[in-house]
Amino acid sequence: MNFSYANELILREKNFEIANGRQESTWYLFHNHVFGAAEVARAVAELAGMDTNLAYFSTLLHDIGKIREKYEKRFHGVLGYEMLKKENSDIARACLLHTFPFNRLESFEHCRNMFFDRREDYDLTADFIRSHPLNDYDLLVQMCDGLSNAYGLVTIEERAEEYARRHGIDIPPGMLESMHELKDYFDKKIGVDVYTLFDKVSAKDIFISYPRCG
Ligand SMILES: [Fe+2]
Repeated sequence: MNFSYANELILREKNFEIANGRQESTWYLFHNHVFGAAEVARAVAELAGMDTNLAYFSTLLHDIGKIREKYEKRFHGVLGYEMLKKENSDIARACLLHTFPFNRLESFEHCRNMFFDRREDYDLTADFIRSHPLNDYDLLVQMCDGLSNAYGLVTIEERAEEYARRHGIDIPPGMLESMHELKDYFDKKIGVDVYTLFDKVSAKDIFISYPRCG
């Protein structure tokens, strides 16, 4: 995987949605989340002695199925996995394994309205989770997914609050605890608080500006 190929995939999804009526000015919502999360992943991977390319591209592309989710009524993890599996199965797995911290997947009934329209997508995800024990890259994507939103890098609490608001729900039980568990794991692994890497990442020119209210 290289940057121009990954960026091409992202731009293809952007153009698909714009062709379906999305305003280009709202693209920051997707762009800032994935590019911010990917830079945090790279910074953590560097300190952890992990493969920085795998960490960066797994995180950059973890939501690549998101754009088509509402058109195809499929779980975005499955769509992303299908898009990437031939190109790079290590990166493709991030699509299926990023959504549920520590792969704590609840029942289909519990996940139905938030994640799964189709039972077969749930079954495929559950099977994949069972047959792919978590590795540090999976955990890193899960953590970084929770540290970047449309407006830049955020704390676990800020991200959880935004997530709940967006879905019109209370913060799901256990979500904050699981995210802190992930962050504690990497804080220990790299010997510094992951939040201290935010300044270094934010200094990079990676975010698209967005309309500010008030
Ligand atoms: Fe994400």
